Amino acid sequence: MTARVIDGKSVAADLRASVARRVAAAGFTPGLAVVLVGDDPASAVYVRTKDRAAREAGIEARTIRLPADTPQDLLLQQIAALNADPSVDGILVQLPLPKHIDTYTVIASVDPAKDVDGFHPFNVGALADGRPKLVPCTPLGVMKLLAAAGIATSGARAVVLGRSTIVGRPMAALLLAADATVTIAHSRTRDLPGECRRADILVAAIGKPEMIQPDWIQPGATVIDVGINRLADGRLVGDVAYAAGAEVAGAITPVPGGVGPMTVACLLENTVTAAQRRRGG
Ligand code: GUN
Repeated sequence: MTARVIDGKSVAADLRASVARRVAAAGFTPGLAVVLVGDDPASAVYVRTKDRAAREAGIEARTIRLPADTPQDLLLQQIAALNADPSVDGILVQLPLPKHIDTYTVIASVDPAKDVDGFHPFNVGALADGRPKLVPCTPLGVMKLLAAAGIATSGARAVVLGRSTIVGRPMAALLLAADATVTIAHSRTRDLPGECRRADILVAAIGKPEMIQPDWIQPGATVIDVGINRLADGRLVGDVAYAAGAEVAGAITPVPGGVGPMTVACLLENTVTAAQRRRGG
């Protein structure tokens, strides 16, 4: 069997077009501020991509670049200024932050109504409560991909591989809200291949290149690969051994061109949603 390829680029293009239409109809210009501390090359690429996509959707994007040795207090002041700025609807602090900065303190300083990453404890709690407000972009993008591909979640066994606050945990909460039976597996899980093999829907977000081998996949399962790993030879691969995995899975997302484009599109959607809610919409 060869799996159906879930084309994230095409689903993301549709979502971006729908966001652009919402912006055009809104009668105001939503504003997005992206804060980048330091010069991590991967983060710089992500931030440029987000900035460009926002502009293309009619969102006013600005990127605030701060040096790697920026003191935490200065970063917190910068965020306080963005919280108070009425032209800013969405604030995204690109992660990871330099080691001398406490990520939790920084995220908790963002106005939850402008927290388009959905990382603030208020938004994390709302999602855990089954009453989501602003939802993290990558897991939200995965849910939209599943819907677009016609994959039913209700009653399905879903295994989320990885327990990060950016992907694994919110992913599990969203799948649970969509009536899946959810397991979170991680590096300490006993018999990881066996756990993964039980999955009707397997979401890999562990950050290990091509770790998931074909015998970890239940024949016919849906495999969503969140991993983006750069190999020494420059190739970009996911957490799933793609070619071999596609021989076993029923549907699979490629890397690149799967989940990645959805993350950016969902950020734009969250920004417009935050902007409309802040204006009472
Ligand atoms: N770093 C990797 N993924 C993300 C994300 O979704 N948001 C932010 N802010 N940083 C990230």
